[in-house]
Amino acid sequence: MITRTTLSPGITVLTLENASATAKVSLYGGHVLSYVPKGQKDVLFVSEKSLFEPGKPIRGGIPVCWPWFGPSADKTLPIHGFARLAQWNLVSSEEKEDRTTIVLECLPTDATRVLWPHDFRLLLSVTAGKSLELALTTENAGKETIRVSDALHTYFSIADARKVSVAGFDGARYIDRVGERTERDQAGEVTIVAETDRVYLGGKDCSVIDAVTGRSVAVRKDGFTDTVIWNPWIEKAKAMPDFADDEYLRMICAEAGSVLGNAFDVAPGASVTQRMTLVPGAR
Ligand code: BG6
Repeated sequence: MITRTTLSPGITVLTLENASATAKVSLYGGHVLSYVPKGQKDVLFVSEKSLFEPGKPIRGGIPVCWPWFGPSADKTLPIHGFARLAQWNLVSSEEKEDRTTIVLECLPTDATRVLWPHDFRLLLSVTAGKSLELALTTENAGKETIRVSDALHTYFSIADARKVSVAGFDGARYIDRVGERTERDQAGEVTIVAETDRVYLGGKDCSVIDAVTGRSVAVRKDGFTDTVIWNPWIEKAKAMPDFADDEYLRMICAEAGSVLGNAFDVAPGASVTQRMTLVPGAR
């Protein structure tokens, strides 16, 4: 079953329900807000202080960072691009007993052309079932090659960031973005003991393991080159108006992306599809 509700003015949410899971997806931002596998708690975190207001990003769930990740080149444009600030349309849906798929699209408007003067079609396919499968397709509908960096900025709900670990990156190279940018090699699992903002290079998959609840969620990716691990920790949490002071303990972001030096080109008429799948219970 797919139901449509209005969460607040300009924020329409689709609820996808089947025998395996319930998921909620906002048409504003093409933004997955919730993914609850049957009998489990939500895999995703959304801040109790999140705004649900067109023009402002939603804090939590899975923001779509596109067509650039992080600040724009000249730092004057919205951080993480405009897809998470745009209204998307539902283009198709398919319902089976144990999985539901919807496909959303984001198209250029006068507002996007001011920020980024290109013609494009951006599609997000969301399948909720025993796993949550996302496929992001960038189509270049213009006459010039476009360069894109992007991420599915996934906020995982966890019991205590101090007791969470991210496995899969042992030996991987990463760019540490806290303070002066440095490159390092990961030894063992990633743990959170301070502000953490890292880009793990090299395409490895990972899993988020919550030692308190015993739940692990595998993050599998295909077509994305990097994984960003982010936790704002104490001071940054206090500085974010749409995030409660202690919520840094209840979330960790593990984001499949193609960021920084791994931005990619899409030729006129071509398209690129990148996938991320969250598998609860797997490593
Ligand atoms: C992460 C970035 O992906 O997103 C961080 O690595 C950034 O540098 C964070 O602070 C949150 O961004 P925003 O715009 O949603 O507050």
